[in-house]
Amino acid sequence: MSRVARAVTVRASAKINLHLGVGAARADGFHPLDTVYQAIGLHDDLTVVAGTSGRIEVEVASYIDDAGVPRGGGNIIDAASLALARHHMRPVLADYTLRKTIPVAGGMAGGSADAAAALVALDRLHDLNTSDADLLALAAELGSDVPFALIGGSAHGTGRGELVRPLVDRGTWWWVVVPNREGLSTPAVYRHFDVLHPDASPTPPSAVPVIEALASGSPLKLGRALRNDLQEPALDLRPELGALLSRGEMAGALRGLVSGSGPSCIFLCDSAEAARAVADDLRAHHDVVLIATGAVAGAHVLP
Ligand code: C5P
Repeated sequence: MSRVARAVTVRASAKINLHLGVGAARADGFHPLDTVYQAIGLHDDLTVVAGTSGRIEVEVASYIDDAGVPRGGGNIIDAASLALARHHMRPVLADYTLRKTIPVAGGMAGGSADAAAALVALDRLHDLNTSDADLLALAAELGSDVPFALIGGSAHGTGRGELVRPLVDRGTWWWVVVPNREGLSTPAVYRHFDVLHPDASPTPPSAVPVIEALASGSPLKLGRALRNDLQEPALDLRPELGALLSRGEMAGALRGLVSGSGPSCIFLCDSAEAARAVADDLRAHHDVVLIATGAVAGAHVLP
């Protein structure tokens, strides 16, 4: 196949935080985190072809407002292309098609997934052979969640979330996901955390209970251990999410939780059957209710 006609498609998945322990803001404004990430089966696919326009064609799932996806220089995909270009001291250009199913501004790291997909796709398209360590370092520059989007699976995150290591995970976890048409700003939710917790410890709460629950494979244990310190500020900003969380738990979910900084909500269920029952119940009140399993792979080239 000629280089010119070559297309590379990379799939990158949504993340949820099974534990999001947040400490007091650091001097650089970021919050120290002790977090457990899981990649789940909702994904964005990015196709890159040889070209120099940098144009991004965007196709979105019915529940995503494509006006929320920045184009024309402001997309994190452009930042990924620039980061690779600086690293290799050569232009790293392409034309893009992005197919999104990860909610935008939903607390599921959709932008970070796109950045990770761009790093992997551009590296392959241009035969750059960037080492894994360098890709992870470039990913960390692009955003706190981007290194996790590269590795996927279930992982422990520290620092501002960018230092990741894979975890032992013996379960197949069933999640019901309820996205929200109206996104929430991550910085706004962190700022509200600061208002609610002016005396937060610089050391974030430990993720050990969730790490142990993942290793046990028990949904009951994981349900009891789930924790998100951004849930309280997110619910304060969007009180209607409280009723959704209660409804999902009444319908049989082991636990309902705000995903990351929200407003997407996730519900852990103990089987595929239970997930279908919870999803059916929630569909009476919400247009879009999805089912996803975790853990799934990080950003990878599709055949
Ligand atoms: O790293 P990222 O660009 O995804 O972060 C977006 C914003 O979220 C930051 O500008 C900051 O306001 C907030 N944030 C934070 N602490 C973190 C991660 C993100 O305060 N650990």
